[in-house]
Amino acid sequence: MNEEQRIAVDDYFSRMLVSSDTVLEDVLERSADAGLPAINVAPNQGKLLYLLAKIRGARRILEIGTLGGYSTIWLARALPSDGSLVTLEVNADHARLARKNIQTAGLSGVVSVVTGKAVESLEKMVADKTAPFDLVFIDADKESNPDYLRWSLRLSAPGTVIICDNVVRRGRVADPDIDDPDVLGVRTFFKQACTDARLDTTAIQTVGSKGWDGFSISVVSG
Ligand code: SAH
Ligand code: DHB
Ligand code: MG
Repeated sequence: MNEEQRIAVDDYFSRMLVSSDTVLEDVLERSADAGLPAINVAPNQGKLLYLLAKIRGARRILEIGTLGGYSTIWLARALPSDGSLVTLEVNADHARLARKNIQTAGLSGVVSVVTGKAVESLEKMVADKTAPFDLVFIDADKESNPDYLRWSLRLSAPGTVIICDNVVRRGRVADPDIDDPDVLGVRTFFKQACTDARLDTTAIQTVGSKGWDGFSISVVSG
């Protein structure tokens, strides 16, 4: 099976299972026009995030890594009208475009885009005694994944679902010859996840329009 076939299957799933959506298509078009890298989740992955938030019955969602707000919009659409989503973004241009995209999607009332280094925003949320989140999506700089997991746990409660994107990196995660900071970040994240008694974790590889990658899912126990 080759790359072309894998992409064809992703396209087929996205066509079959993800309704055509001009709001989300426009988000990607505006993001590309603004020169943002196309590292948003794929449509069928966005729908997975939406379904997981629905299954969890999430009322409060935290996202680390906004880009143009594509995954943000998928997640926020799963919220009830009195729900909320906080998304953290270090790049002011990305944050600005994301706010515009979120407004176009009619979700400004439930989404706050917080500009700044995610670790600093997380630290502040903990200091402010922010209520726990029901679902956390970690998708920013991969070398900080261990910090993001630590801080996310401080903003979690029993039942919180923590999803982390890009944990496979074209297989580099399991290649002992590779010790790039992003890969080390993913490995340390897994070490933390499996040694922390509060977390139950698995990981799934994905192929398709975003290449060979994957995500982890954890649930926080009592
Ligand atoms: N979740 C998005 C993709 C995020 S790409 C989607 O699927 O649509 C990763 C984003 O994390 C980029 O916008 C990048 O600017 C941001 N980022 C990188 N380092 C960061 C940091 N230290 N704090 C906050 N955001 C960061
Ligand atoms: C890349 C992909 C992502 O989904 C992401 O969040 C960050 C980087 C990448 O392919 O480089
Ligand atoms: Mg990602």
